[in-house]
Amino acid sequence: MAAKKVVTFGLRYKDFSRQRNLFALRNNSEIEIVAEIAYDDSDEEIFFKRTSIEEGLAIPHDYVIVCGPGPSMVKGSVEEVAQWLSDNGFSEEVSKVTNVTNLTMAHFEQIQTHQLQVLKELVTASDAQIHDRNWLGERIYSYGINPFFKLAKDPEPGVTWSTCGILQVPSEFLDLCLYLSDDRWKGRIDNAIEVGVWRGASSYILAAILYRGNPQMTYNMVDIYDGLVHFDAVKEIVPSLKKCIPNTSADFAERSFDFCFIDADHSYDGMMGDYMNVGRYASKILVFHDIFGHEYDHLNGGTVRGWQEIKELEKDNKITEFTKYPDFWMGLGVVEKQ
Ligand SMILES: C[S@@+](CC[C@H](N)C(=O)[O-])C[C@H]1O[C@@H](n2cnc3c(N)ncnc32)[C@H](O)[C@@H]1O
Repeated sequence: MAAKKVVTFGLRYKDFSRQRNLFALRNNSEIEIVAEIAYDDSDEEIFFKRTSIEEGLAIPHDYVIVCGPGPSMVKGSVEEVAQWLSDNGFSEEVSKVTNVTNLTMAHFEQIQTHQLQVLKELVTASDAQIHDRNWLGERIYSYGINPFFKLAKDPEPGVTWSTCGILQVPSEFLDLCLYLSDDRWKGRIDNAIEVGVWRGASSYILAAILYRGNPQMTYNMVDIYDGLVHFDAVKEIVPSLKKCIPNTSADFAERSFDFCFIDADHSYDGMMGDYMNVGRYASKILVFHDIFGHEYDHLNGGTVRGWQEIKELEKDNKITEFTKYPDFWMGLGVVEKQ
């Protein structure tokens, strides 16, 4: 199916969720951005197609996507922008006006159906399949990865972009999944905790892999806010999942879990708090995200400082780092308790 041509209207640099939706649709070849009508001149260009209203609307297109209050002379809702276009000689545009949400609904439904299929395949995978990097990679990449600019602009092949996907570098997360699917963990992880689950995607995949190795296990999903997508449908496939929202690691203080994944408050104090509450009690595997995430440096040193200290505290254990961008971004740190 040919990509629909889109003119964005009023997209701002700070509109992260709208940008991610548009990146997802664009990178999956569902849309092509042909023009980006400015919010105001001082705002950063996002798709490098900045035009005036007249020039943008002159380029053939299927949709005008209203991303927020529009360019300075046309602030308002979808209806108000449509009215403005009608009043200003662009009446043929009115039927093309929509917003990002309308455009992404079909994409979401399609992806969510696929996600359930991937999870079913993970829980029923043979040993040969789950240990095969290509087999596992195909499932994890197509499950849906959140389209951060850096990832969406420099994509790894085979990735489906979705704002209900995981907030991880695909190859790093695949490394972690392969590590967890190793036979030495089979039947040995009885209880798990993930602090900071957001949409649930990382928990769903990790829990599916651990559940395959031990159907009796419990995977506690902890967050301060409920952003989970299709939890009930996933729980039918991965019964180990337990929603603990709203909660923080403090609600589980001093409890020992076989597997502990910390990806919540990325300030140094937040990360160390989670480590002190549950991380240091992990009995087999302890994982941190964003160990190279320098965007949190301003938060009293953030996760980079936290990870350096935790590595020192855990130096008697085996430490592994999964990283594609060791100088500046993301990264998963694994402490395997000896
Ligand atoms: C980066 S997201 C988690 C991403 C998820 N692990 C994934 O890979 O898809 C961080 C999450 O941590 C949650 N969070 C922030 N502070 C928290 C806290 N003190 N305790 C628990 N969750 C927290 C946020 O609400 C957010 O959903």
